[in-house]
Amino acid sequence: MRRRPLIVGNWKMHKTIAETRALLRELRAAPLPPGVEVVVAPPFTALPAAREELREGTIELGAQTMHQANHGPYTGEISPVMLHELGVRWVILGHSERRAYFSETDDAVAHKVRAALAHGITPIVAVGETATEHEEHATLTRVTLQARAAFAGLAPEDVGRCVVAYEPIWAIGSGLVEEPAGANAVIGSIRAAVEGLEQTRMLYGGSMKGENAAALLAQPEIDGGLIGGASLQAASFLAIVEAARARAQTP
Ligand code: PGA
Repeated sequence: MRRRPLIVGNWKMHKTIAETRALLRELRAAPLPPGVEVVVAPPFTALPAAREELREGTIELGAQTMHQANHGPYTGEISPVMLHELGVRWVILGHSERRAYFSETDDAVAHKVRAALAHGITPIVAVGETATEHEEHATLTRVTLQARAAFAGLAPEDVGRCVVAYEPIWAIGSGLVEEPAGANAVIGSIRAAVEGLEQTRMLYGGSMKGENAAALLAQPEIDGGLIGGASLQAASFLAIVEAARARAQTP
Protein backbone atom coordinates (compact mmCIF):
# COMPACT_ATOMS: atom_id res chain seq x y z
CA MET A 1 0.00 0.00 0.00
CA ARG A 2 1.26 3.46 -0.87
CA ARG A 3 1.79 5.86 2.01
CA ARG A 4 0.38 9.33 1.47
CA PRO A 5 2.96 12.12 1.94
CA LEU A 6 2.35 14.24 5.04
CA ILE A 7 3.80 17.68 5.79
CA VAL A 8 3.25 19.04 9.31
CA GLY A 9 4.01 22.59 10.42
CA ASN A 10 5.04 22.83 14.08
CA TRP A 11 4.70 26.52 14.87
CA LYS A 12 6.04 26.12 18.43
CA MET A 13 5.52 29.28 20.56
CA HIS A 14 5.02 31.56 17.57
CA LYS A 15 2.05 33.45 16.14
CA THR A 16 -0.68 35.47 17.81
CA ILE A 17 -4.28 34.96 16.75
CA ALA A 18 -4.02 37.75 14.18
CA GLU A 19 -0.76 36.33 12.80
CA THR A 20 -2.31 32.86 12.67
CA ARG A 21 -5.22 34.11 10.60
CA ALA A 22 -2.89 35.95 8.22
CA LEU A 23 -0.60 32.95 7.64
CA LEU A 24 -3.48 30.53 7.18
CA ARG A 25 -5.13 32.83 4.66
CA GLU A 26 -1.92 32.83 2.65
CA LEU A 27 -1.67 29.05 2.84
CA ARG A 28 -5.32 28.62 1.89
CA ALA A 29 -4.91 30.86 -1.13
CA ALA A 30 -2.25 28.55 -2.58
CA PRO A 31 -3.18 25.52 -4.65
CA LEU A 32 -1.85 22.48 -2.79
CA PRO A 33 -0.49 19.48 -4.70
CA PRO A 34 -3.06 16.70 -4.86
CA GLY A 35 -2.29 13.70 -2.67
CA VAL A 36 -0.18 15.61 -0.15
CA GLU A 37 -1.70 15.83 3.31
CA VAL A 38 -0.94 19.11 5.13
CA VAL A 39 -1.32 19.75 8.87
CA VAL A 40 -0.52 22.88 10.88
CA ALA A 41 -0.01 22.93 14.65
CA PRO A 42 -0.45 26.50 15.98
CA PRO A 43 -0.24 27.36 19.69
CA PHE A 44 -3.31 26.49 21.80
CA THR A 45 -4.52 30.09 21.99
CA ALA A 46 -4.82 30.30 18.20
CA LEU A 47 -6.60 26.97 17.64
CA PRO A 48 -10.19 28.32 17.54
CA ALA A 49 -9.23 31.02 15.03
CA ALA A 50 -7.25 28.48 13.02
CA ARG A 51 -10.25 26.21 12.91
CA GLU A 52 -12.37 29.02 11.49
CA GLU A 53 -9.76 29.82 8.85
CA LEU A 54 -9.42 26.16 7.87
CA ARG A 55 -13.13 25.39 7.71
CA GLU A 56 -12.97 25.41 3.92
CA GLY A 57 -10.10 23.60 2.30
CA THR A 58 -8.01 20.56 3.04
CA ILE A 59 -5.40 21.77 5.56
CA GLU A 60 -5.94 20.01 8.88
CA LEU A 61 -5.40 21.14 12.44
CA GLY A 62 -2.91 19.75 14.94
CA ALA A 63 -1.76 20.55 18.48
CA GLN A 64 1.82 20.61 19.76
CA THR A 65 1.23 18.56 22.92
CA MET A 66 -1.58 17.44 25.22
CA HIS A 67 -2.20 15.82 28.59
CA GLN A 68 -3.31 12.20 28.66
CA ALA A 69 -6.25 12.63 31.05
CA ASN A 70 -9.70 13.73 29.90
CA HIS A 71 -9.95 16.29 32.73
CA GLY A 72 -8.61 16.77 36.25
CA PRO A 73 -6.39 18.80 38.56
CA TYR A 74 -3.55 19.44 36.08
CA THR A 75 -2.98 23.19 36.13
CA GLY A 76 -2.04 24.56 32.75
CA GLU A 77 -2.71 21.38 30.79
CA ILE A 78 -5.02 20.73 27.84
CA SER A 79 -6.86 17.43 27.36
CA PRO A 80 -7.68 15.34 24.29
CA VAL A 81 -11.39 16.06 24.87
CA MET A 82 -10.71 19.80 24.65
CA LEU A 83 -8.60 19.42 21.53
CA HIS A 84 -11.12 17.20 19.80
CA GLU A 85 -13.86 19.74 20.51
CA LEU A 86 -11.75 22.33 18.65
CA GLY A 87 -11.46 20.15 15.56
CA VAL A 88 -7.90 19.07 16.31
CA ARG A 89 -7.24 15.68 14.70
CA TRP A 90 -3.44 15.49 15.07
CA VAL A 91 -1.10 15.97 18.01
CA ILE A 92 2.69 16.08 18.22
CA LEU A 93 3.85 13.99 21.19
CA GLY A 94 7.30 13.65 22.72
CA HIS A 95 8.88 16.53 20.80
CA SER A 96 12.48 16.88 21.99
CA GLU A 97 11.69 20.35 23.38
CA ARG A 98 8.89 18.85 25.48
CA ARG A 99 11.24 16.09 26.62
CA ALA A 100 14.14 18.48 27.40
CA TYR A 101 12.37 21.51 28.91
CA PHE A 102 9.12 20.06 30.28
CA SER A 103 10.30 16.67 31.55
CA GLU A 104 8.13 14.64 29.18
CA THR A 105 9.13 11.01 29.70
CA ASP A 106 8.82 7.97 27.43
CA ASP A 107 6.17 6.70 29.80
CA ALA A 108 4.10 9.90 29.53
CA VAL A 109 4.41 9.75 25.74
CA ALA A 110 3.06 6.18 25.79
CA HIS A 111 0.03 7.26 27.84
CA LYS A 112 -0.57 10.22 25.55
CA VAL A 113 -0.41 8.03 22.43
CA ARG A 114 -3.19 5.84 23.82
CA ALA A 115 -5.27 8.84 24.92
CA ALA A 116 -4.96 10.50 21.52
CA LEU A 117 -6.00 7.34 19.69
CA ALA A 118 -8.96 6.89 22.04
CA HIS A 119 -10.21 10.34 21.01
CA GLY A 120 -9.69 10.02 17.27
CA ILE A 121 -6.58 12.20 17.30
CA THR A 122 -3.58 10.92 15.34
CA PRO A 123 -0.37 10.98 17.42
CA ILE A 124 2.78 12.23 15.70
CA VAL A 125 5.42 10.67 17.94
CA ALA A 126 8.76 12.47 17.81
CA VAL A 127 12.00 10.61 18.48
CA GLY A 128 15.59 11.68 18.05
CA GLU A 129 19.13 11.56 19.36
CA THR A 130 21.27 14.30 20.90
CA ALA A 131 24.48 15.56 19.28
CA THR A 132 26.53 13.48 21.73
CA GLU A 133 24.54 10.33 21.02
CA HIS A 134 24.99 11.03 17.32
CA GLU A 135 28.76 11.38 17.70
CA GLU A 136 28.90 8.22 19.79
CA HIS A 137 26.97 6.26 17.16
CA ALA A 138 24.16 5.70 19.64
CA THR A 139 21.43 7.01 17.33
CA LEU A 140 19.76 3.70 16.57
CA THR A 141 19.79 2.61 20.20
CA ARG A 142 18.22 5.88 21.31
CA VAL A 143 15.50 6.18 18.67
CA THR A 144 14.44 2.54 18.73
CA LEU A 145 14.20 2.69 22.54
CA GLN A 146 12.01 5.78 22.30
CA ALA A 147 9.79 4.23 19.62
CA ARG A 148 9.41 0.91 21.47
CA ALA A 149 8.52 2.79 24.67
CA ALA A 150 5.96 5.02 22.96
CA PHE A 151 4.12 2.06 21.44
CA ALA A 152 4.69 -0.51 24.23
CA GLY A 153 1.74 -2.88 24.55
CA LEU A 154 -0.19 -1.29 21.71
CA ALA A 155 -1.79 -3.60 19.13
CA PRO A 156 0.01 -3.45 15.76
CA GLU A 157 -3.14 -2.11 14.07
CA ASP A 158 -3.17 0.80 16.55
CA VAL A 159 0.55 1.43 15.96
CA GLY A 160 -0.38 1.61 12.28
CA ARG A 161 -2.77 4.49 13.02
CA CYS A 162 0.08 6.68 14.33
CA VAL A 163 2.78 8.79 12.68
CA VAL A 164 6.44 8.88 13.72
CA ALA A 165 8.78 11.84 13.24
CA TYR A 166 12.51 11.22 13.35
CA GLU A 167 14.11 14.49 14.44
CA PRO A 168 17.84 14.47 15.25
CA ILE A 169 18.01 17.04 18.06
CA TRP A 170 21.24 18.53 16.70
CA ALA A 171 19.43 19.28 13.43
CA ILE A 172 16.46 21.12 14.97
CA GLY A 173 16.62 24.85 14.33
CA SER A 174 20.35 24.60 13.65
CA GLY A 175 20.46 24.71 9.86
CA LEU A 176 22.25 21.35 9.98
CA VAL A 177 20.36 18.57 8.29
CA GLU A 178 20.88 14.82 8.35
CA GLU A 179 22.03 13.37 5.03
CA PRO A 180 19.00 12.01 3.18
CA ALA A 181 20.44 8.49 2.99
CA GLY A 182 21.35 8.58 6.70
CA ALA A 183 17.87 9.76 7.70
CA ASN A 184 16.39 7.08 5.47
CA ALA A 185 18.44 4.39 7.19
CA VAL A 186 17.47 5.54 10.69
CA ILE A 187 13.80 5.70 9.76
CA GLY A 188 14.01 2.23 8.22
CA SER A 189 15.46 0.92 11.48
CA ILE A 190 12.67 2.52 13.52
CA ARG A 191 10.11 0.98 11.19
CA ALA A 192 11.67 -2.44 11.67
CA ALA A 193 11.86 -2.09 15.46
CA VAL A 194 8.13 -1.99 16.22
CA GLU A 195 5.46 -4.25 14.83
CA GLY A 196 2.78 -2.21 13.09
CA LEU A 197 5.08 0.56 11.81
CA GLU A 198 5.35 -1.00 8.32
CA GLN A 199 2.50 1.13 6.97
CA THR A 200 2.89 4.08 9.35
CA ARG A 201 3.88 7.43 7.91
CA MET A 202 7.42 8.27 9.02
CA LEU A 203 8.51 11.91 8.84
CA TYR A 204 11.91 13.56 8.95
CA GLY A 205 12.30 16.77 10.97
CA GLY A 206 15.25 19.08 11.66
CA SER A 207 16.06 22.08 9.47
CA MET A 208 13.95 20.80 6.60
CA LYS A 209 13.61 23.58 4.02
CA GLY A 210 12.46 24.07 0.45
CA GLU A 211 16.06 23.54 -0.70
CA ASN A 212 16.62 20.15 0.94
CA ALA A 213 13.07 18.77 1.04
CA ALA A 214 13.04 17.13 -2.39
CA ALA A 215 16.17 15.08 -1.68
CA LEU A 216 14.80 13.93 1.69
CA LEU A 217 11.36 13.13 0.27
CA ALA A 218 12.90 11.11 -2.55
CA GLN A 219 14.07 8.54 0.02
CA PRO A 220 11.90 5.43 0.16
CA GLU A 221 11.34 5.48 3.94
CA ILE A 222 10.69 9.24 4.35
CA ASP A 223 6.97 9.93 3.94
CA GLY A 224 6.99 13.59 4.86
CA GLY A 225 8.32 16.26 7.15
CA LEU A 226 7.81 17.86 10.55
CA ILE A 227 8.72 21.48 9.92
CA GLY A 228 9.55 24.11 12.54
CA GLY A 229 11.19 27.35 11.37
CA ALA A 230 10.23 26.98 7.71
CA SER A 231 6.55 26.54 8.62
CA LEU A 232 6.29 30.10 9.95
CA GLN A 233 6.16 31.75 6.53
CA ALA A 234 3.81 30.75 3.74
CA ALA A 235 6.45 30.74 1.00
CA SER A 236 8.94 28.52 2.82
CA PHE A 237 6.26 26.10 4.04
CA LEU A 238 4.61 25.87 0.64
CA ALA A 239 7.99 25.14 -0.97
CA ILE A 240 8.24 22.02 1.19
CA VAL A 241 4.63 21.03 0.49
CA GLU A 242 5.38 21.44 -3.21
CA ALA A 243 8.49 19.25 -2.88
CA ALA A 244 6.20 16.43 -1.71
CA ARG A 245 4.24 16.54 -4.98
CA ALA A 246 6.58 14.13 -6.74
CA ARG A 247 6.27 11.62 -3.91
CA ALA A 248 2.48 11.81 -4.05
CA GLN A 249 2.63 10.97 -7.75
CA THR A 250 5.00 8.01 -7.39
CA PRO A 251 2.99 4.83 -7.91
P1 PGA B 1 13.11 23.07 12.57
O1 PGA B 1 12.23 22.36 13.72
O2 PGA B 1 12.44 22.75 11.25
O3 PGA B 1 13.06 24.52 12.89
O4 PGA B 1 14.47 22.49 12.64
C1 PGA B 1 11.68 21.08 13.54
C2 PGA B 1 10.94 20.68 14.79
O5 PGA B 1 11.40 21.02 15.89
O6 PGA B 1 9.90 20.01 14.72
